[in-house]
Amino acid sequence: MAREQLFVASKVAAEHKTYEEAMAGIDKTLETMGLDYLDLMIIHSPQPWDKVNQSDDRYVEGNRAAWRALEDAYKAGILKAIGISNFQIGDIESLVKTSKIKLMVNQILLHISNTPLELVEYCQKNGITVEAYSPIAHGEILKQPEIKAIADKYGVTVAQLCIRYTIQLGTVSLPKTANPEHMKSNSQVDFEISDEDMKILKNFKKIESYGESGIFPVYRGKM
Ligand SMILES: NC(=O)c1ccc[n+]([C@@H]2O[C@H](COP(=O)([O-])OP(=O)(O)OC[C@H]3O[C@@H](n4cnc5c(N)ncnc54)[C@H](OP(=O)(O)O)[C@@H]3O)[C@@H](O)[C@H]2O)c1
Repeated sequence: MAREQLFVASKVAAEHKTYEEAMAGIDKTLETMGLDYLDLMIIHSPQPWDKVNQSDDRYVEGNRAAWRALEDAYKAGILKAIGISNFQIGDIESLVKTSKIKLMVNQILLHISNTPLELVEYCQKNGITVEAYSPIAHGEILKQPEIKAIADKYGVTVAQLCIRYTIQLGTVSLPKTANPEHMKSNSQVDFEISDEDMKILKNFKKIESYGESGIFPVYRGKM
């Protein structure tokens, strides 16, 4: 497969909050992957993982420093697009005060039962593409009978409903599967969820837990 047919994305580690650390991370990623450039690199989290939900420090200066490294790598042509992940509106507002290059992507937790509409709309209004990670709620939404009933109404799988939902919100859906059959059906989402059902899905109750994955900071409440 030709390199141009692949979209390769990676992340600046959440802990790398200096220019040097972020730049070293970019270089190391390229070296490890044996690539000349990446299509997208994003700052993984505004806070280091061990500070999520533990500290009010939003690492404004650290994120500005990491962003400068992304900007320089972008200017050098080794990153084709740059962005952020798990950033809230306040984090973005702090970053754009000093950024020189536009934030292109914000990759956020977004699925039926967790729809941060205000953040999505803010990003879209400011020309930042929203990527929806865990659009199938890391698999947990598959256990919700109400969602299954809506999927049945459209003659689709729950996964297809979830993916279509994030697309209709104007976001880029990032489903994950290790199953080739799922991969195939997950790409077949050429149907339309009605406005009425979109409203129901946007307001669907929060799932109680992400199972064993609930230990990860991204699934432990607001980032
Ligand atoms: N930026 C961040 O902080 C962050 C955090 C978490 C995740 N992410 C990214 O988001 C992406 C998705 O994360 P995720 O694993 O939580 O994804 P997800 O797509 O919400 O859930 C994946 C789960 O759904 C199942 N699944 C997928 N398609 C299915 C289908 N058609 N029928 C039944 N089950 C299906 C998968 O099992 P099978 O393999 O059996 O299909 C797997 O258990 C990853 O690439 C990850 O890198 C980013």
